[in-house]
Amino acid sequence: MSHVKIMSGENIPLEMHKIRMVQKINLLPVEDRLLAMQEAGFNTFLLKNRDVYLDMLTDSGVNAMSENQYAAMIQADDSYAGSETFYRLESVLQDIFGMKYFLPAHQGRACENIIAKVFVTPGTTALMNFHFTTTKSHITLMGGSVEEIISDEGLKIQSDLPFKGDIDLDKLNEAISRLGKSKISFVRIEAGTNLIGGQPVSMRNMHDVSRICRDKDIPLIYDASLLADNLYFIKTRDKKYKDIAIKDIIREIASLVDVIYFSARKLGSARGGAILVSDDEMFTRMRELIPLYEGFLTYGGMSVREMEAMAVGLQETLDMDVISQTPIFVEAMCNELIAKGIPVVTPPGGLGCHLDATQFCSHIPQQQYPSGALAAALFIASGVRGMERGTMSEQRNADGSERLSEMELLRLAIPKRVFTLSQIKYTADRIAWLYKNRHLIGGLEFVEEPQVLRFFFGRLQPIGNWPEQLAKQFRADFGESL
Ligand code: F0G
Repeated sequence: MSHVKIMSGENIPLEMHKIRMVQKINLLPVEDRLLAMQEAGFNTFLLKNRDVYLDMLTDSGVNAMSENQYAAMIQADDSYAGSETFYRLESVLQDIFGMKYFLPAHQGRACENIIAKVFVTPGTTALMNFHFTTTKSHITLMGGSVEEIISDEGLKIQSDLPFKGDIDLDKLNEAISRLGKSKISFVRIEAGTNLIGGQPVSMRNMHDVSRICRDKDIPLIYDASLLADNLYFIKTRDKKYKDIAIKDIIREIASLVDVIYFSARKLGSARGGAILVSDDEMFTRMRELIPLYEGFLTYGGMSVREMEAMAVGLQETLDMDVISQTPIFVEAMCNELIAKGIPVVTPPGGLGCHLDATQFCSHIPQQQYPSGALAAALFIASGVRGMERGTMSEQRNADGSERLSEMELLRLAIPKRVFTLSQIKYTADRIAWLYKNRHLIGGLEFVEEPQVLRFFFGRLQPIGNWPEQLAKQFRADFGESL
């Protein structure tokens, strides 16, 4: 995607692809959207996609695939062991990352399971810029804990800092001296830090963290699931890297860490997962677990067709036209909202546009899940499905008390090359309407609350009849319009 100037002088984000296969989607009337939300227990994860107009739940496994990816799928070599597809993917990964070994897994969290089983022992702590939900659950299931050492600025909703995902080096050094090397399972850097709004990590910070970890002999693990967005920001926000080839940047990152893993539902726009490592001993310890939890070493629970699509998708990640589309659309959507005074995470990150529910719904206490309520309200107002990224996505403390999230966000993911600019504008407009009527949004409470990753299939109910009032107001303002 490129910024191209039109006659008015305005730069517009121009698509560097054309759409050659489409899927019909439906926009239901507001009364039906209300009904669908009620049936889904006020949890956007439980909506049926047939009731959703724009699915901005996630970018996971739903990025548009290229014609070359589809073409590659036909050539897949079906074999339980020693499939040619594995060797093709392995050589692409080795070429891009320059690491010695590739261990396949069926998705990102499966990689996290293997890594947690090998590196986490009870009582140890994993230090990281910020947790991801599944990462933390795997670590805590192994008896470990997570400590976040992100810079304070990273947690501020509005900021000018170009790399809000950076680790605070003072916090890292302090944690290492307080805990001691033996009590630290690993340090983890998450590219394009998901839960703070898809915020990137700088190369400078990667170098500094790597130096400290190498000096103290602590394993450094890199979650590259959101690497594509992070690469775009390194190229556009760090002058030093403007003219460096994307592949060289990836190689430089890989040279700084011990283990790389990623969800290929995101990176590579297919469906799968990968662990990359160069150290023989680490490889051997993780390798044992792959056939046990995933599948044989040459497919790791993935379909060979997806592996072929992943190999091509990873090579396409080296193209700025491909990796720029999501961040540029995120920026376009954020700018529309900022112009209307609506609180969003800034600077705009990758992955999606993040609404700040703390300000948007300042009248809803955190115990009543303001981000979850905002997600439900936006679906009723627009048919757009977002994802709660706040207190509902946290796990309760061991004593059962609520762990209040540091940020209350509604994430509107923008999968790669899926939506058009008019759909982005429509979404921003409906959000603006909702903002004007935000006093109508009320809280939520659980009626069914699972113990682990409760946000996936927990069911909630509104406190009061605010969803009905919201739908009524929509009708009054928009008349017959959908
Ligand atoms: N790490 C990060 C940074 C992620 O964003 C995800 C998934 C995972 C690991 C786990 O990968 O889904 O393939 O098992 N994020 C998705 C999301 C679920 O919607 O943000 P997975």
